[in-house]
Amino acid sequence: MCGIVGYAGDKNVESVLIVGLIGLEYRGYDSAGIAVLDRGEIQVRKQKGKIKDLENYLKEHPIRGNVGIGHTRWATHGEPNQINAHPHTDSKSTVAVVHNGIIENYSELRQELKQKGFVFHSMTDTEVLPNLLAESRKRGLSNKDAFLELFNRVHGKWAIAVVFDNEPDRVYFAQDGAPLLLGRGKEEYYLASDISPLTRNCREVYYINSKEWGYFAKTECKIFGFDGSEKEFEFKTQDIKFEDVDKGGYPHYMIKEIHEQPGIFRRIIQSRISEAGEIEFPESTISREMMSKVNRIIIQAAGTSYYAGMLGKHYLENFAKIQTDTETSSEFRYRNPVVEGDTLIVGISQSGETADTLASLLEAKAKFIKVLSLVNNVNSTIARESDSFIRTDAGPEIGVASTKAFTAQVINLLLFSLYVARLKWIVSDDELKTLIEEIRLLPGKMERILAQAHILENWAADFTKTKDFVFLGRTYNHPVALEGALKLKEVSYIHASGYAGGEFKHGPIALITNEVPVVCIATKSEIYSKMLSNIQEIKARNGIMISIVTEGDKEAKELSDYCFEVPECPEILSPILNVLPLQLLAYYSAVARGCPPDQPRNLAKSVTVE
Ligand code: F6R
Repeated sequence: MCGIVGYAGDKNVESVLIVGLIGLEYRGYDSAGIAVLDRGEIQVRKQKGKIKDLENYLKEHPIRGNVGIGHTRWATHGEPNQINAHPHTDSKSTVAVVHNGIIENYSELRQELKQKGFVFHSMTDTEVLPNLLAESRKRGLSNKDAFLELFNRVHGKWAIAVVFDNEPDRVYFAQDGAPLLLGRGKEEYYLASDISPLTRNCREVYYINSKEWGYFAKTECKIFGFDGSEKEFEFKTQDIKFEDVDKGGYPHYMIKEIHEQPGIFRRIIQSRISEAGEIEFPESTISREMMSKVNRIIIQAAGTSYYAGMLGKHYLENFAKIQTDTETSSEFRYRNPVVEGDTLIVGISQSGETADTLASLLEAKAKFIKVLSLVNNVNSTIARESDSFIRTDAGPEIGVASTKAFTAQVINLLLFSLYVARLKWIVSDDELKTLIEEIRLLPGKMERILAQAHILENWAADFTKTKDFVFLGRTYNHPVALEGALKLKEVSYIHASGYAGGEFKHGPIALITNEVPVVCIATKSEIYSKMLSNIQEIKARNGIMISIVTEGDKEAKELSDYCFEVPECPEILSPILNVLPLQLLAYYSAVARGCPPDQPRNLAKSVTVE
């Protein structure tokens, strides 16, 4: 989705902004632009397409200066083109604005401003902002007062960065529900809508809170509340390093992040399981007293996080013995669900910024329901708005398709379920010990799978012309089938659907022809024989059989055209291993078909609009 950067200091702002925008590229965008204060004049350059296109345009139309703002746009109002790209200015170019989020009442504001003689050029909601500021200034208001007035006039969830022609040293900023953070360097300040552009130059950052605004110049930075009062604030040292958001020698973030998973698991296991075998969640304020009262859990999430949530239901019901429902937030929030006082809402979000998930958590809070979130970005809005949060600890995920966050969410949900079961004294020492021993073996087994990535690379080469894929799994591996299908379609654009194996004969089996590969997740489990039946039914209809099986399984292998073997593990842990070949299949299919795996078309890393 859209991204914001800003800078004031001694450096050439054009290159600082471009480097910052490159740091935001992973979020998904369709146009980009910058506005620079060049000797008291606001100069804007913007282009449809990639940052490279903007850079080429800047070579022909350079700008000089040390203060400016930049933006990557993901189209919501109006198609991706140069006119709709940000920054937007008023007609006289006295003020330039970049904006993330949505101005809900833009259409009324636009009418009002048009009646006052203001002219609009774009289809965006953003363009009302520079015009509102210009209109306030025309009435004699200072920039600060114009800014304060703006906050009362616009509705929605947004973040903005602004430059005014009469304050050539300053960048103004504000946020109401969309993330924005400041970075401090040596005699320079940076602004960005997420941490990635700040990792190279700033060790100290400040996460701007909702309903805060301010401005910075080379050597000063002020923050105020929407009521105009100045606020004390503190920059904090941030622990994300540039290497964490770098490709580290891999051709794409997606494959780097797939290969990071064993290391992430080692870290999670080390931090969550003590030497004595006790599970710990020190960051959460969940107490035994509170958990013993919870009689229902509703998991809220979207996309891949929702599939992790489906596994969370299995784990929480199995170990913590708490009735759990998992629902997509976009549906949950509009259907007036019955939610009572003893319910706990668990929000799962990698980014911590997903608008649907945030909205449903806020609604639950408004009904006095306790909200716990599982977030990868602990400084995110969802983390801050929840009563308590748990860290996913996957490290920054840059590839648009979620991979390492999924497996990290799953293991945390399992550990959390065991933790609650322990609080309630309903898991025996022996059961816990055996499971923990198995969990400790996971990183090594994951490495063995990833060492065979070339097998999936070879398979992908066979399916470059394939139009449809089907994924089947049962119980714990039903969410894995859904995730495998989602991963494949989002990065390779091959149509793919995932089904519960038992549901397949109730309709979807009609899809099977000798051109349709079916991925069956058939590792050893209580329902292994049922998956074998699926495999046989598909073979009988000439489908192309791809199976994911436990090492040494000859039966399923003999029935398969393609077969990938994964190390043996208990069924409840199998999703963590089984999803790895599916992530690799998706990645290599994208590469084989010439699709950009890190930035699939139409997708954005964090979906901050509903
Ligand atoms: C798929 C993917 C999305 C996200 C979904 C929720 O690869 O990444 O489906 O899982 O948009 O995002 P978060 O977890 O950030 O709330």
